[in-house]
Amino acid sequence: MTRKTTMNITIEPLGPNARRPLAEKPAFGKTFTNRMFTQRWTEERGWHDAKIGPYQPLALDPATAVLHYAQEIFEGTKAYRRPDGHINLFRPWENVARFNRSADRMAMQKVDPEAHLEAIVELVRLEHEWVPHGEGESLYIRPVMIATDVSLGVHASKSYLHYIIASPAGPYFSTGFKPVSVFVSDEYVRAVRGGTGAAKTGGNYAASLRESERVKHLGYHQVLWLDAIERKYVEEVGAMNIAFVYGGNHIVTPELSGSILEGVTRDSVLKLAPDLGYAASEARLAIDDVLRDIESGEITEVFGMGTAAVIAPVDKMGYRGKDYFVRNAPGPVAIHLFNHLTNIQYGRIPDPYGWTHKIEIGVDGR
Ligand SMILES: Cc1ncc(COP(=O)(O)O)c(C=O)c1O
Repeated sequence: MTRKTTMNITIEPLGPNARRPLAEKPAFGKTFTNRMFTQRWTEERGWHDAKIGPYQPLALDPATAVLHYAQEIFEGTKAYRRPDGHINLFRPWENVARFNRSADRMAMQKVDPEAHLEAIVELVRLEHEWVPHGEGESLYIRPVMIATDVSLGVHASKSYLHYIIASPAGPYFSTGFKPVSVFVSDEYVRAVRGGTGAAKTGGNYAASLRESERVKHLGYHQVLWLDAIERKYVEEVGAMNIAFVYGGNHIVTPELSGSILEGVTRDSVLKLAPDLGYAASEARLAIDDVLRDIESGEITEVFGMGTAAVIAPVDKMGYRGKDYFVRNAPGPVAIHLFNHLTNIQYGRIPDPYGWTHKIEIGVDGR
């Protein structure tokens, strides 16, 4: 039976082809739940036709604007199974706010944050069986917006499709923390100040792929990007922000430069660190200084921060033909932060920051 939510989202019935969540561990981002959220925007009607219906392919005219000029944005956030069987979202408001900042940068329409959050909550509630129960597992939620004008003219689209899909995810580190190695690229850049680096838009990722592939062939896991102007200052690594631990207790991460994505995990680490007994600061970090401090042992740990891995220890940094080995990987600070943050995300310890949004399962018959 069709019903409507408070924010006017139509919930459509599922057809007979609904699948049960698979018992075996899914490969990340390849299996999706039965349903998806969609709504459309036009100048005449604003956002309309909000609905959660069966997951299905999109039919797009080959001349649809997004396919040509990449006017698109996306987000990534997760739902975590709590020990009491209910489900937590982690700082979903920050995610919606970033989605709207990305929309603004890409000349797209902003969404109503309340409606976007309700769409996520309803989708997760309807698909709660797909939120896995295993250690480190989660349901990855991927909001997207694309320009849908059918036109080859280069201008901001006058129509958009906003949709949200969800994919069960296994633990990032299935056999304990596995440190990642990074290669510092001074040949290619990801984003430039004044460009789109602070927005979560596909073009940034497309532009990073060639160098990512090259460094994989060189035997490194990820690219560490430098600033595009001087190629001197550390920006971020792969799809993560990066942090360095000085003297075992001072966490330093590159300051937001306009070309770095403002990570929710990064912000959580900065806010959490003092309560766990660490100093935390943001600074402009020159790569030469960082590598010198890794060699001298003044930097005791390096780690990436992002929704996928939460904390990813870095053991090796390659730069201009030389490898620099980090003293501790994983080190005590990375392990402490990982445990504390994931305990909050999964609702295993109290959340004094108000970061979690609990979705009650089995209440009012759903
Ligand atoms: C380029 C980039 N930097 C940093 C991050 C980390 O952000 P968050 O902690 O919000 O996942 C991501 C992932 O979303 C990313 O794609």
